[in-house]
Amino acid sequence: MLTEPFYDPARSYLENFEQGPFSFFAERCVYHDRGEPRYKFLGHEVNLPLGIAAGPLLNGRFVKAALDKGFDLPVYKTVRTRKYASHEWPNVLAVHPKGDLGLDTMPLVGDEDYSEPLSITNSFGVPSFDPEFWQPDIADAVAHAKRGQVVAASFQGTTSGHGDVQAYIEDFALAARLLKETGVKIIEANLSCPNEGTANLLCFDVDRARRVVERIRDEIGSLGLMVKAAYFRDEERLRTFVREVGPVVDGIVAINTLPAKILDANGGQALPGEGRLSSGVCGRSIRWAGLEMSGRLARLREEMGLNFSIIGVGGLSDANDYHAYRKAGADAAMMATAAMWNPRLAQEIKAQETKEAMG
Ligand SMILES: Cc1cc2nc3c(=O)[nH]c(=O)nc-3n(C[C@H](O)[C@H](O)[C@H](O)COP(=O)(O)O)c2cc1C
Repeated sequence: MLTEPFYDPARSYLENFEQGPFSFFAERCVYHDRGEPRYKFLGHEVNLPLGIAAGPLLNGRFVKAALDKGFDLPVYKTVRTRKYASHEWPNVLAVHPKGDLGLDTMPLVGDEDYSEPLSITNSFGVPSFDPEFWQPDIADAVAHAKRGQVVAASFQGTTSGHGDVQAYIEDFALAARLLKETGVKIIEANLSCPNEGTANLLCFDVDRARRVVERIRDEIGSLGLMVKAAYFRDEERLRTFVREVGPVVDGIVAINTLPAKILDANGGQALPGEGRLSSGVCGRSIRWAGLEMSGRLARLREEMGLNFSIIGVGGLSDANDYHAYRKAGADAAMMATAAMWNPRLAQEIKAQETKEAMG
């Protein structure tokens, strides 16, 4: 069931950052799990391997609220090594594809009608504050986790714009080192981001993705390392990605969003500014793609005898979806869109788990 979201799309990113979270996440109540943690995730005890994916948890207050409401694997929104401005408002709009979103879909209309089945587009440009802000903020959020909970933090390198690939890789490594200093237990390198000097995503440039993760690994030693990957159309490229990157990382998180052109009711560009005609769609209509990727990653992991964990993301909206991800081969599952509009979802899924366990 949809309720008031904890991130308010009617306000700017900065207003949400400064005033949020809202609705249920602003209430004081704290959820307590009964019994011992039953699962392990990347070596950490967790009550339920269910989390909030990188994005909606803008800062430590959001992460702490997610922990308090029973999300045991919250991810702190992607940070950079330096301050970086957000795209202008609006940053979130509802979209209404008919059924599943195709890979080469017709343009969609973006509006404010947030209704089920819920899909949205999000367009922030990966804003960040300086490490002087986010290092103590992450440390504080990490300390808030109770037994059976573990906080992760997402990061990415910033392109110089001059095609300096080595500087780009070093910026990933610096971000990883700065994150390690916070005491965060797991870091997530966003490889589903634009690749320096190209129009494509970093994860599709497998050779460079491998160089990035190897450099990060050198920097962080045995700290838990996940990578965020996009939906791969091409099975051979995915196989190469898993072969090259899989042995270096502890987890592969997939997917991010699927792209579509987003128009307003008059057929104009809905999100103002250059490069925002095409925007990432998430929520219910991309669930098929997240589930498919979990299954493909599980088969490739088995085929290659690798050990990384799979974190399924995309369209997870209820307990059945959580189980579908686990069945597809995911060791953990995360959601962004559905958690925003149903901040009680972790508690609802846990209540169902308990009911089933009791027969
Ligand atoms: C508001 C919002 C902000 C997001 N920001 C990021 C981000 O900073 N880094 C990232 O890797 N993914 C980001 N994402 C993508 C999510 O992590 C996730 O991969 C995607 O939304 C699919 O999951 P969903 O269908 O449950 O929303 C964002 C998603 C949303 C809804």
